[in-house]
Amino acid sequence: MTETIPQKPDVMSEDFARDPHKYYKIMRDHYPVLLHEESGYYFVSRFEDVARVYKDSEGFSNENYGFQMEPVIGRTVIQMSGREHVVHRQLVAPTLRGSYLNELLPQVDDIATKMIDNLNPGESVDLVENFTRWFPINVIVRMLDLPEEDMPKFHDWYSSLMAFLGNLTQDPDIHAWGMRTQKEFPAYMLPLIAERRKNPGTDFISRLFDAEVDGEKYTDEQIKSLIGLLLIAGGETTDKAIASTLKHLLQRPDQLEAVKKDPSLATHALVENLRYHPPVQIILRTATQDIEVAGTVIPANSVVAVVNGAANRDDRRYPDPDRFDIFRDDISLKGAFGGSAEHIAFALGRHFCVGSLLAKRESETAITQLLEKFPNIRFADGYEPEDEGMFTRGPKDLRVNLT
Ligand code: HEM
Repeated sequence: MTETIPQKPDVMSEDFARDPHKYYKIMRDHYPVLLHEESGYYFVSRFEDVARVYKDSEGFSNENYGFQMEPVIGRTVIQMSGREHVVHRQLVAPTLRGSYLNELLPQVDDIATKMIDNLNPGESVDLVENFTRWFPINVIVRMLDLPEEDMPKFHDWYSSLMAFLGNLTQDPDIHAWGMRTQKEFPAYMLPLIAERRKNPGTDFISRLFDAEVDGEKYTDEQIKSLIGLLLIAGGETTDKAIASTLKHLLQRPDQLEAVKKDPSLATHALVENLRYHPPVQIILRTATQDIEVAGTVIPANSVVAVVNGAANRDDRRYPDPDRFDIFRDDISLKGAFGGSAEHIAFALGRHFCVGSLLAKRESETAITQLLEKFPNIRFADGYEPEDEGMFTRGPKDLRVNLT
């Protein structure tokens, strides 16, 4: 019998947005490199191919961020390549992965405690709006050692940056909001950074002044841009990691019970969620030359969309990949937050997420503290969780009864 080949999925359709996993499977099995004609993007979906694109930084560059992010926040590590990337990565990595991180972690717990203190038993709330969306931003404000009164400013700048980057329909109000942030954010940050240079403390900004690689040091402008990047890269991603891990646990009461009994299993739940539902579903690269992937030649300068969400459910790599199970044999905690991770949630290769250890602690503390304070937490009556987003994806909201 001849196999009927399913129709090529329309990656920009509403059906696709509703249930991408249905189409990711068709892509992996029949269109491992799928050209979306309208945008000209090549979508790569099998685990092996996605991993290869990430690891081949000569063949696939990050220059796309030069168009996406640089106009909004300035030039940052995420768009760099070669020596420039190595230098900038080494300038920032010791703070986010070294001794400063150890000093920061207890403060992360403390911020979560304070935010969860504002939630009361008996309430029915949207946990995204009341906790997960702002928690990672509040952590960044604490890293900068800024007064709590300034948090709303950061919430507004963060929201406007995210809306601006996702403004595919060119809504003029969103555009104007983003442009305002482009003025307000540097006007706030640059004098603050200059003042810290004169009177350094022990905060993230002051630590960056000491960083030096091959005689290169950060300028004030570069520090300001890096902080803009942290808001974008560390905000929505962590928000979605926490919210979607909680959602998947709430949908599986036995696994939820297990995490309540043994809070160390929160890390298993997080790691399984990073595989099953990575917050960053799609990342863009640019082919630097004509380059073959899974039998298709991708022409030089084409945009390549690597689909983490599809790679992580490739049955060539994971048995029974559509099952969310914190007790899976193939969950490996060792290396799950470093370059040898078994899943592709933080990318792979040179640009592997430099904030993954911070994200780990934020997620662990958020989940364990919530479950400790509200052991009988459940979805609000009649509520059906729904995911949204194509490039980043997670629960639109998370309505729960706090008991
Ligand atoms: C679960 C949460 C997170 C996820 C899923 C995530 C995911 C990613 C991914 C996929 C990349 C690679 C981007 C690319 O190569 O195109 C990345 C890079 C990056 N992430 Fe994260 N991230 C998370 C949390 C954070 C946090 C908390 C921070 C810092 C506050 C952060 C800061 C960064 C930075 C600075 C880069 C650029 C690294 C480089 O270019 O060398 N991320 N992240």
